[in-house]
Amino acid sequence: TRPLKVALLGCGVVGSEVARIMTTHADDLAARIGAPVELAGVAVRRPSKVREGIDPALVTTDATALVKRGDIDVVVEVIGGIEPARSLITAAFEHGASVVSANKALLAQDGAALHAAAEEHDADLYYEAAVAGAIPLIRPLRESLAGDKVNRVLGIVNGTTNFILDKMDSTGAGYQEALDEATALGYAEADPTADVEGFDAAAKAAILAGIAFHTRVRLDDVYREGMTEVTASDFASARNMGCTIKLLAICERAGDGRSVTARVHPAMIPLTHPLASVRGAYNAVFVESDASGQLMFYGPGAGGAPTASAVLGDLVAVCRNRLSGTTGPGESAYAALPVSGMGDV
Ligand code: HSE
Repeated sequence: TRPLKVALLGCGVVGSEVARIMTTHADDLAARIGAPVELAGVAVRRPSKVREGIDPALVTTDATALVKRGDIDVVVEVIGGIEPARSLITAAFEHGASVVSANKALLAQDGAALHAAAEEHDADLYYEAAVAGAIPLIRPLRESLAGDKVNRVLGIVNGTTNFILDKMDSTGAGYQEALDEATALGYAEADPTADVEGFDAAAKAAILAGIAFHTRVRLDDVYREGMTEVTASDFASARNMGCTIKLLAICERAGDGRSVTARVHPAMIPLTHPLASVRGAYNAVFVESDASGQLMFYGPGAGGAPTASAVLGDLVAVCRNRLSGTTGPGESAYAALPVSGMGDV
């Protein structure tokens, strides 16, 4: 069987782990897919930063030329941000490739258009890694629970802010002190705005709500409040009431069950609730549905290797689809359910 060719866009914390695992687990991946998977090119902005173990001959700064080569089966996009990721993904579909992406911001903003582009070209668009790192959530919602009726998705979907809030709670530290530690440990970005102002969690909430409720929810539809105003004394008050504070994403069917709300904000959680014991940079998400009752998904929500795990799972699925000439669920899996503003916060 001919090898399936993979183009990797981005070789940072996640991309370098994807490349490493593709090499070290090559035989296992080939066995599971039914054909070998070959890294055909790695597009980066700064070649000097590419980690050891990646063949320098594969490295290019011309991502556009790589996705337009015409012989690429799967483009793995782990560069993040809206552009150039959106143009590269669109070009990948136009040139016959399927796409695996970890890009929550892009999926939350342009998911509908990208799904439509994938469908137009009989290609796949998978993005398990966009939400909650290694934790399987997209596929369980899209596939395992497709015959059930999901009513609520609620949880902690940002590792950086959970680390900061956990630190404040356990040590009495103030916000800035806890943020500084998160930065020093490499959890928080140099510019932590997307995490601490809730944009990252809101993008994930938009993606989860869209899939859980078979509708389209965009980042702008999500009510968002960050956690920068939470103080050490808020934690002391919460403690007095037997609670802690977490940044939650809450997606639910609104009153009549026919519309959807999604919101992100800090919330008091009773210490007896399982979400109260989610420590450090971990994530946890509850899914409530008619037939299943309540499910809890828990695990590492960020970091190179955990996120690479989700990317590689998608890569296997997309390669299998490609070999069998099928595609996974696309845009047509979404029915029109209205999104009703920001809910009743
Ligand atoms: N900044 C994100 C987080 C990375 O802290 O959860 C994973 O999406």
